[in-house]
Amino acid sequence: MTQNTTSFGQAILDRADQLARFSDAEAGLTCAFLTPAHRAAQAQLAQWMEEAGMSVRIDAIGNVIGRYAADAAVGDSARVLMTGSHFDTVRNGGRYDGRLGILLPIAVVGALNAAGIRLPYHFEVVGFAEEEGLRFKTSFLASSVLAGRFDPALLDRQDVDGVTLRDALAASGLPGGGELPALQAAAVDPASLLGFVEVHIEQGPVLLHHGLPLGIVTQIAGSSRFQVRVEGLASHAGTTPMGMRKDAAAGAAEMILLVEQRCGEVPTLVGTVGQLQVPEGSSNVIPAACMFSMDIRAGEDGIREAAIADIVAGIQRIAARRGLTAKVERVPPVNNAPCARWLMDQFGAVLKKRGLQVFELPSGAGHDAMMMQRVTDVAMLFVRCGNGGISHNPLETITADDARQAAEVFVDFLRHFQPLPAMRR
Ligand code: GLV
Ligand code: MN
Ligand code: MN
Repeated sequence: MTQNTTSFGQAILDRADQLARFSDAEAGLTCAFLTPAHRAAQAQLAQWMEEAGMSVRIDAIGNVIGRYAADAAVGDSARVLMTGSHFDTVRNGGRYDGRLGILLPIAVVGALNAAGIRLPYHFEVVGFAEEEGLRFKTSFLASSVLAGRFDPALLDRQDVDGVTLRDALAASGLPGGGELPALQAAAVDPASLLGFVEVHIEQGPVLLHHGLPLGIVTQIAGSSRFQVRVEGLASHAGTTPMGMRKDAAAGAAEMILLVEQRCGEVPTLVGTVGQLQVPEGSSNVIPAACMFSMDIRAGEDGIREAAIADIVAGIQRIAARRGLTAKVERVPPVNNAPCARWLMDQFGAVLKKRGLQVFELPSGAGHDAMMMQRVTDVAMLFVRCGNGGISHNPLETITADDARQAAEVFVDFLRHFQPLPAMRR
């Protein structure tokens, strides 16, 4: 390929900057599912895909899917190698989380197209519309639709304004209007897939610590999320003796410390309470209710499930002792997802050929590849995260040179890609 790939890196970073201008908040980057900023980002991605030489469709959940059609000589038998990541963000997030895994393959397709190079398979780039769970407190909404694993109960889930997912989809103008059959029909046929590969910023300090630009992911840690509602009794802050209170917030505080203590007991186990509210609280009223989120993850499903059992039992014990009630609502969990050795090895071969160290590491963060792993083999290429490895934070950063190296590796990977022989599938 004669294309000068040195321009890849900065071009990808520039596009991440441009995409970050579409934000729900004036300060920083927040891009929640189906907000005006989110729709603008979706349209921008579709335009860039078309300009790169792809045909584009938008599915019933808002995924933007660009196809770089296979070499005509392959004919109708061509199957699909898929890549992609999400374009929604956490509140005040970073501009590369998810987006790098869309923008980088678009740049790669643009370069292949400009050089007149076609691949012997269809190559699809997916901009997944929702992964973070910010608006509807779920996760992997978009990849669950593509993987045919959408949970219909989620349609009744409400955002903070009481808008259900069903109504948000109906009002969106997306194809299918939020009807369940349309969401189910958007599932990809697993038999058509050759695999799914995702490029993502590492979101941690490991590659930075080892002085390496790229890493190959071995597995993605499973995760479980919960919403907990603790209820007590509102009463006067000045007159109710300390021993006679049913304080929902004090109970929640004890529960949160239990999450921290239990998850600190085992390496790879992590637990986070990232949202905490006293709804309609007043400074002079004992809290009648307190709500908090819990996010629990581990590299092994058994370790995560054991911790969850202990924590849920502990929450009920704390509630009973304090005269409170606690309702624990679980978002469908996502289990640990192993990456496929045959795909990892093809990335490894490219790294080796380019004189780069073949470094493998697990992912503690969740990724769309976890959901796609339910229907096809997956692999992930991690790109070094600067600023100490910080992510889910506006300080998240990568260098243009690391983006360039990742794009060059990706080009080589695509050009030398060997499907798994049918008998091993
Ligand atoms: C996604 O970023 C997650 O790991 O929660
Ligand atoms: Mn994220
Ligand atoms: Mn991400």
